[in-house]
Amino acid sequence: MNYQHSFHAGCFADVFKHWILILLLEKLQQKTTPFGVLDTHAGAGFYDLMGDNAQRTLEYEGGIGKLIKADNIPAAFQTYLNLIYACQHPGSTTSHAKEKNLRYYPGSPYIIQQFLREQDSLIACELHAETYRWLKRNLDYEKKIALHEQDAYHAMKAFLPLKEKRGLILIDPPYEIDNEFKHLAEALKIALHRFQQGIYAIWYPIKHRPPVRAFHQQLQKLAPGKVLIAEVMQRDDNDASKLNGNGMVIINPPWQLQETLTTNMPWLANYFALGDGARAEVSLM
Ligand SMILES: C[S@@+](CC[C@H](N)C(=O)[O-])C[C@H]1O[C@@H](n2cnc3c(N)ncnc32)[C@H](O)[C@@H]1O
Repeated sequence: MNYQHSFHAGCFADVFKHWILILLLEKLQQKTTPFGVLDTHAGAGFYDLMGDNAQRTLEYEGGIGKLIKADNIPAAFQTYLNLIYACQHPGSTTSHAKEKNLRYYPGSPYIIQQFLREQDSLIACELHAETYRWLKRNLDYEKKIALHEQDAYHAMKAFLPLKEKRGLILIDPPYEIDNEFKHLAEALKIALHRFQQGIYAIWYPIKHRPPVRAFHQQLQKLAPGKVLIAEVMQRDDNDASKLNGNGMVIINPPWQLQETLTTNMPWLANYFALGDGARAEVSLM
């Protein structure tokens, strides 16, 4: 395992996935009954964008650094932005962050923690030993949060169904291994068998189309009619050596999520376009 998210924190993929993560958490909060979240690939939880790794790639400049400079950002991004602003000035949610004083970026377990109520819980897993140590340091201790230095795919067997009987499984692998899509489809088959009603959100990179298409077809067989595909292409996917776009599959999408994504993703695709073919696509399979 070589992947370290500290090189990529705040990149466009993070903006896209964390915005959708927050939309999902807001939906879960609409009912007072408890919900659980399993974050299978948690990362370190919190990142310093002025640290050596983020400064070496400067990927955040094409992601959160670009977003906060935008004029006329659609209202649907406001909760996400407020959370980013609050991270710069712990304890404050006022929107005084500008790119020049953007310093910190939250990871998925930190974001999830902000949305947990007394009755909710989070299980976060991270396999990389050093990253796991950072995760333990970066998340405030709370009884309702359980951290595990554990393999994501084992965790999906060990922790599903969630004890709350409703909730979200965020799956965000590094795609370091060639057959990650195959592992994912196999793990999802077992997971859906154990916890059919869970909301599953799976991020994936789009380099070229064939492996993505095959993955979609496998998921469609597992949960026909319940697979929401959301993709932002930053350019055409005809050069497989580049990250051309980002996708999120949401299995069992909450009510009206499709409409929110359909309305707002074209703005993202347009603002973050890197070349011909930039577009947003949302469909239910
Ligand atoms: C893309 S990063 C996660 C970022 C995080 N979800 C976020 O949004 O802030 C992927 C993480 O998965 C970890 N990882 C890789 N293989 C894993 C596995 N089999 N089980 C659990 N974690 C794994 C990596 O060490 C890395 O920290």
